[in-house]
Amino acid sequence: MRIERPKEIERFGAIRFGELQRIFELDSGPGNGDSPVVNSAIMQVGSQALAEVQKDMAIIVPVRNERLKLVEGVLCGIPHPCLIIVVSNSPRDPVDRFGMEQDALQEFCTFTGKQAVILHQKDPIIARALAKVGYRSVLGEGRQVRDGKAEGMLLGTLLARLAGKKYVGFVDADNYFPGAVEEYVRVYSAVFATCESPYTMVRIAWHSKPKIVESKLFFRKWGRTTTRTNEFLNRLLAHYTGYDTDIIKTANAGEHAMTMELAMALDYSSGYSIEPYHIINLIEQFGGIHESEALRQLQHRIEVYQVESRNPHLHEAGDDSHIDDMSYQAMQVIYHSSVCPDRLRKDLHRVMVSNEYCTPHAKPRRPRYFPPLQTLDFNKFSAAIADHPQAKLILGGNL
Ligand code: GDD
Ligand code: MG
Repeated sequence: MRIERPKEIERFGAIRFGELQRIFELDSGPGNGDSPVVNSAIMQVGSQALAEVQKDMAIIVPVRNERLKLVEGVLCGIPHPCLIIVVSNSPRDPVDRFGMEQDALQEFCTFTGKQAVILHQKDPIIARALAKVGYRSVLGEGRQVRDGKAEGMLLGTLLARLAGKKYVGFVDADNYFPGAVEEYVRVYSAVFATCESPYTMVRIAWHSKPKIVESKLFFRKWGRTTTRTNEFLNRLLAHYTGYDTDIIKTANAGEHAMTMELAMALDYSSGYSIEPYHIINLIEQFGGIHESEALRQLQHRIEVYQVESRNPHLHEAGDDSHIDDMSYQAMQVIYHSSVCPDRLRKDLHRVMVSNEYCTPHAKPRRPRYFPPLQTLDFNKFSAAIADHPQAKLILGGNL
């Protein structure tokens, strides 16, 4: 893979936000075995080097009630060396959708000679283990893990950590193009093969989202939620630096990946607010605005890469209320952050009121937050899931 280097970098406390990078070649050949070539203009990572990273990477696929054919396509796009972890919140009743996903994954594994983990978000053994180690904020009614994409991602990340993986990446399950999924994972791998810090995050900016407009295909670049959230995050950065910026292009990037060190250090927030919250929480912990123990302890800088994919992103389209919900969740986490400047908070409130997300005299709801996973006692957790049917796969260490 050949990707341009970020030309501009916005430095913010210990964080380096890189400018959007373009991809020149999806496959740049075998390269120099497993040593990537990096100069001031490009990073070139050969296939062997990509595979080396992928052996250490778990790809988490959060699923909730998606068409099985779509999920199968997504699985087939994930490069073979990666460990696949499917976290499903699909119903089991009246039709056992989760059972169908399990069957499909089993069949996929038989034909590909792979092992993959599949877990239901409401799995009682996992919930009990979380309670045992005191990670209760993620548990809701009936002491089950709460609904929500972030909640599923959090479980997947925990399993990836137990499986000893060094990197964790996310891809949505409703992608129509397996080739796009493959591209995202190749981008994650290329960045991890070349990054300098063990605290690195890579976020994908979709090339476009194709839509039919007046009976023609139109390749729309920016969605409503992303445009808005990007603007708010950029204003937040500009408030502190005193310089206008448009560096953030991936505020809502569902497709993203992190080194395990970073994934363990970040706080999480619920549902679809998680992607903007990654940026917010990085700033809260490592931006140097407030006193922070995490920043004092940090030995490295944090690198955030943003890469524009070449494949268009075609997925199951959500309706307007879904988009509104996602926008609202993004605004909630910015509004409630201690690093949100007053002026921006007022503007956020105005936009939320004008969209009827909240009333003029009420504050928007606070999202739920979950503490960093590194606070967990992993040995205790492993012991608590030892009887789980997937325990051997998760804890076996030979995945
Ligand atoms: N495990 C689990 N639990 N998965 C879930 C849940 C849940 O409660 N809710 C949704 N998912 C899965 C979906 O099945 C899909 O695979 C993925 O999470 C994304 O959910 P969508 O509902 O398809 O989200 P979207 O397409 O509208 O938004 C995506 O893109 C946004 C950027 O434009 C998401 O990735 C957002 O997080 C992202 O901000
Ligand atoms: Mg989707």
